[in-house]
Amino acid sequence: MPLVFQSERFFREAWPQFSQAFESSMDAASEVQWIAGLAALEPPARVLDAPCGFGRHSVELARLGFAVTGVDFNETELDRARKAAREAGVELALACEDMRDMEFSGEFDLAVNLFSSIGFFSDDEDRLLLDRFWRALKPGGLFVLDTRNRDQLVRSLPPEERKRVSGWTLRIENAFDPATSRWRARWFRLKRATAKTKEQAQELIGESEIRLYSAHELSAMLRPERWSRVELYGGLDGTPFSLDAPRLVLAAWK
Ligand SMILES: C[S@@+](CC[C@H](N)C(=O)[O-])C[C@H]1O[C@@H](n2cnc3c(N)ncnc32)[C@H](O)[C@@H]1O
Repeated sequence: MPLVFQSERFFREAWPQFSQAFESSMDAASEVQWIAGLAALEPPARVLDAPCGFGRHSVELARLGFAVTGVDFNETELDRARKAAREAGVELALACEDMRDMEFSGEFDLAVNLFSSIGFFSDDEDRLLLDRFWRALKPGGLFVLDTRNRDQLVRSLPPEERKRVSGWTLRIENAFDPATSRWRARWFRLKRATAKTKEQAQELIGESEIRLYSAHELSAMLRPERWSRVELYGGLDGTPFSLDAPRLVLAAWK
């Protein structure tokens, strides 16, 4: 029996209720421009976007003329990706699959894992996932991973956050466990402001637990010896990496 991680349930059930409040298509367009420049790709290069969520990067990559395969295990998000592709007049190859089962081999010029989409599993499974991206690439292909910078986050994680989602408010309770380097969050839908008890005021809609990695840990997990070059950035715009950068971006050429 494969292990079921807390984040699996969270991403299957809770995340689609508010994903679009966190992930903007405007950011995706500029991020994709930067990635495509780094990869120096010409259409019709093949690109893997895993997990692709509701397809915001996949659609922008397809607009640039690339042949994009998106993988995600959430059908709700994939339906949104299909709709976004139709509206943009582009084609995407979308697969509803657990990314831990991806079996691609030497097919892609570019592979991306974006917006904090690592750390959902055990360290060993995260390492195996990185292997799958390496295997999916052609020689010379580029892998871009973008996630939270653990060393910045541990000094800045607020105990509570609120976010407006179309018509309602999301409340997030954050905790960081320094012994495991895992960020635990409880996600609530706020209800009536006049409620007398905490239970009446909010409804728990999901709990997540995500392993956060420092730059040196993730770089080592990539096994740098098998890539021809690995670079670090502090954002999907080429910002230099630093302790204070909110993002950690790894770019690795096979
Ligand atoms: C934080 S979102 C990022 C999505 C996308 N990269 C973006 O930037 O919009 C994480 C995504 O991972 C997907 N996901 C989580 N665990 C997965 C798994 N084991 N296999 C495939 N997709 C998974 C979720 O369904 C969700 O769409």
